[in-house]
Amino acid sequence: MTTNLPRLAILLSGRGSNMVALVEAVQRGVLQGVAEVAVVFSNKPDAPGLTTAAALGCPTASLAPEGRKRAEYDAAVVDLLQGYQPDYVVLAGYMRILSSVFVRAFAGRIVNIHPADTHQHQGLHAYEWAFENRLPETKITVHLVDEGLDTGPILAQAPVDLRGADTLAEVERRGLAVEHQLYANTLVQLIRQELPTPSIAERSATQH
Ligand code: GRF
Repeated sequence: MTTNLPRLAILLSGRGSNMVALVEAVQRGVLQGVAEVAVVFSNKPDAPGLTTAAALGCPTASLAPEGRKRAEYDAAVVDLLQGYQPDYVVLAGYMRILSSVFVRAFAGRIVNIHPADTHQHQGLHAYEWAFENRLPETKITVHLVDEGLDTGPILAQAPVDLRGADTLAEVERRGLAVEHQLYANTLVQLIRQELPTPSIAERSATQH
């Protein structure tokens, strides 16, 4: 059903547990009546998360990069996504670094979830990093995406208690439980404009 609610394009590359949490929040949780899912998109046509999204009743789409240069591929993805008229692009385990073509097309409207404090750890393997360093706590971060790797303005963070977590699987289990709550709650606040956050442009200006 199409409504006048803000539209989310959810991007994933893998299993999609964050996507499931968001879709469930849209269907019967904190995002119900706040947003709708315009499309679930993947760069991997065989991503398990796409099948799950279709089973949940979401429109799905995919486009494999297949040797295209990053900017060229991203331009094609921008075109495809724009056909769904998204208000927000929500990265949920989307395993590609976005080029400026993509970031500029949706400037200030791309959101990512990172399983660490982005001031402490950027890029892949954040749970491994927390586990190997025996951290007593890690932080999940939801942030706006700029042209750097996990450098955009932070919208929200939530702690994960890792005391007594003696396997990587347990670290991930605890972390994902926090991710699933934090992502939906943060999107509600973002959409309702309840988050005091500098724009990407303002932040860049203070950094240089
Ligand atoms: C999550 O840990 C997320 O924070 C990171 O990638 C992982 C995706 O997991 N960006 P899933 O596909 O949502 O289960």
